[in-house]
Amino acid sequence: LKARSALLSNWATLTGAHCADVFAAQNVTEAFARFIDGLGGEALRGRTVLAAADCFPSLHFLLAGLAERHGFTLRTVPVMDGETYVHDDDFVAAWTPDVALALVTWVSSLTSKRADLDALASHARKHGSLIAVDATQGMGILPFDLRTTPLDFVCGSTLKWLCGVPGTGLGYVAPALMQSGMTPAVRGWFSQDDPFNWDIKAFSYAPDARRFDTGTPSVLPFVASKPGFDRMLSQPAGSVRTHNLALSHQLIAIVDRLGYRLLSPRADEMRGGSIMAEVPRHLDVQQLIATLASERVSVDARGRTLRMSPGTSTTASGIERLERCLSQ
Ligand SMILES: Cc1ncc(COP(=O)(O)O)c(C=O)c1O
Repeated sequence: LKARSALLSNWATLTGAHCADVFAAQNVTEAFARFIDGLGGEALRGRTVLAAADCFPSLHFLLAGLAERHGFTLRTVPVMDGETYVHDDDFVAAWTPDVALALVTWVSSLTSKRADLDALASHARKHGSLIAVDATQGMGILPFDLRTTPLDFVCGSTLKWLCGVPGTGLGYVAPALMQSGMTPAVRGWFSQDDPFNWDIKAFSYAPDARRFDTGTPSVLPFVASKPGFDRMLSQPAGSVRTHNLALSHQLIAIVDRLGYRLLSPRADEMRGGSIMAEVPRHLDVQQLIATLASERVSVDARGRTLRMSPGTSTTASGIERLERCLSQ
């Protein structure tokens, strides 16, 4: 449990949260589900939950299922014709006063489009809506600080840029929400301040985010995720992003030279750490990935979308190798 707390403390450091306000779950979807569960039906009943069509599908599946159960309307902002992602302006246009909760995807998993969290958080405050942010694809590569950008809920995991393993969903809940009596229905002995209170007539929620725990928590993924997370936290401030940006510019130039369609925004401030591009139809994507792997270039694909994510171990010569392979 100490090892688990140590990883949660890393997450608090990275997000600018207090340790008392962060919790762990098995994955991102589950962390978000615990937040919605904690809000309870009354906060959402008869109102609207806003999400974008390019949010992580798992969170949309969850919201679509809960809409009926909790009696809210799920409004999904579509990707406009000719675009590859939902623009913040379109999201804000759909954010009417009936929106009780907006789910914002900080960085999209298929285009690396980055939402302007400051602007969206201030829109939420203006409308009195809650704002939940899925920060999975941005954490560890882009600056993030709850002290300057207050949010109601954040979820993520140690996968992606934090170099961890599956099994470590991470959450943050604004302390004001917990103080206002947020009580998740799914609860167990670890939801208490003292898990060893076994008096079945005297359950009480932990005063902090421990209340989102349930039964015996898993520990090994937290142990396994610690070295990568420590390594990312120990990099000089801004250095990972500077390296990532230099290589991202190299990648965009390659995509342009090859005539692939760039799916990610061109402007650095609108993009996360990855460059996504559409592979032309005449190429077999899986064959391409295998050939690149044999050249020690790790690239991933979803359908015909290539996802290239230059991190601390990616080199400029590796990117040149990528271009040689792709042009052949
Ligand atoms: C934006 C985003 N959110 C969430 C997830 C993962 O969610 P889960 O941990 O529930 O599988 C991913 C993973 O690919 C992602 O890209």
